Amino acid sequence: MNPQTISTPQAADAGTASAIPIPNPLCEQPDFSVPAEMVAVLDELTTHYPRKRSASLMLLHAVEERYGYVSRQAVEWIAARLELAPINVYELVTFYPMFHRQPTGRFHLRICRTLSCALRDSYKIHDHFCRKLGLDPHGHGAQTSKDGMFTVEFVECLASCGTAPVIQCNDTFHEEVTLEKADKILEGCK
Ligand code: FES
Repeated sequence: MNPQTISTPQAADAGTASAIPIPNPLCEQPDFSVPAEMVAVLDELTTHYPRKRSASLMLLHAVEERYGYVSRQAVEWIAARLELAPINVYELVTFYPMFHRQPTGRFHLRICRTLSCALRDSYKIHDHFCRKLGLDPHGHGAQTSKDGMFTVEFVECLASCGTAPVIQCNDTFHEEVTLEKADKILEGCK
């Protein structure tokens, strides 16, 4: 896939290369559009910040909540709304792990693989989920089941090391997870 390019004001000002390539292209969402009522709410909320730029995370959260991920079109839309270069929004999307760069399943299972959880068998839980959902236990990155219901992904420390192993299913944390608990979590999603 060809790297996307995102223009920056500096590049434009310099009159040189009009874009900086980015190594990891964002997902395309050709039908991306934001309903008028949502635009009105976001525009009003933006006025509460001293600078438009300060509303970047708030707009990203709104897009993530509505569409489930942040596409190239969404980054460009937010940048235009806040009078920024798209790269200013892109760098937030790639820095914060709560923003998805591709569509995910209805239930997103994040399994901590950092030391405390790894020592307490989080790899076995990841393996268990993958096998039950028809995913590759050795696959890298987020994987989504064929029915689009579940996305399984290893993540780094979820900040509850004392109750390892820890997983997160959408916004809910589960601590001291065993294989039996993992099965119950899946059952609870159906
Ligand atoms: S190591 Fe898993 S929550 Fe910290």
